[in-house]
Amino acid sequence: MSGSAITPWVVGNWKMNPMQADAKELLSGFKKLLQNNEIKEENCHIGIAPSMLALTSVQAELASSVRSIYTVAQNVSRIAGLGAYTGEVSAELLKDHHIDFVLIGHSERREIFNETSQILNEKVKNALTAGLTIIYCVGESLEQRENGQAEQVVLQQICDITAVVQAEQWQKIVIAYEPIWAIGTGKTASPEDAQTMHAKIREGLTQITPFGASMAILYGGSVKAENAVELATCPDINGALVGGASLNAASFYEIAQAFANTK
Ligand code: 13P
Repeated sequence: MSGSAITPWVVGNWKMNPMQADAKELLSGFKKLLQNNEIKEENCHIGIAPSMLALTSVQAELASSVRSIYTVAQNVSRIAGLGAYTGEVSAELLKDHHIDFVLIGHSERREIFNETSQILNEKVKNALTAGLTIIYCVGESLEQRENGQAEQVVLQQICDITAVVQAEQWQKIVIAYEPIWAIGTGKTASPEDAQTMHAKIREGLTQITPFGASMAILYGGSVKAENAVELATCPDINGALVGGASLNAASFYEIAQAFANTK
């Protein structure tokens, strides 16, 4: 399967946003756009990752959409199961609430919350054991890119999880390449640079797993309606992980439409 034969994914990462009333308006706006002009499921997977607090209410809102939209957790505990772990939410609890997707390895969690590769491996292992699909985020800093280390850093972040992902479980992993310098900065990687990195990631994945050729590799970092088509045109960019622009119903819809129509 070539990179472009993969059904694209467009996932909105709401981060620590928005207030309840705004979330309601955003979701109803997005559902209305889908209703007027449906994006078929086979042309694009769509997901929304709200705060932990809003997971179940967003999931309930999305249930009345014309098509399925995944509810994605932004985080999961490094601890599995149930127990006395104040403030934590385990993979099993997510699964019990019918949340089947989770982001792991986002640079904000790596950097601000000091999530090391060991911690991330615990999360990956627990999520897979509970049967969740993981959107595993990787990406280099500006300094690493300027020092010519971007590919090495990103491939190492992928190699890090090989210790805890069993053969069949690679089918439950989606990769999101998010160069840190492009997140929330308005500075997108050029389609050429993004495609080059995505092709390297694809090459790395095919060396690790037979599923490498069919795994989705999403791009994230200042994806907007204005640049979605040119990113979608790149053969190894199989979708987008969208931050800021996912907080606007029309922008998020247009990004999903760009990937659905271009792929
Ligand atoms: P922005 O789209 O706001 O740059 O955020 C990207 C991101 O971090 C998505 O996970």
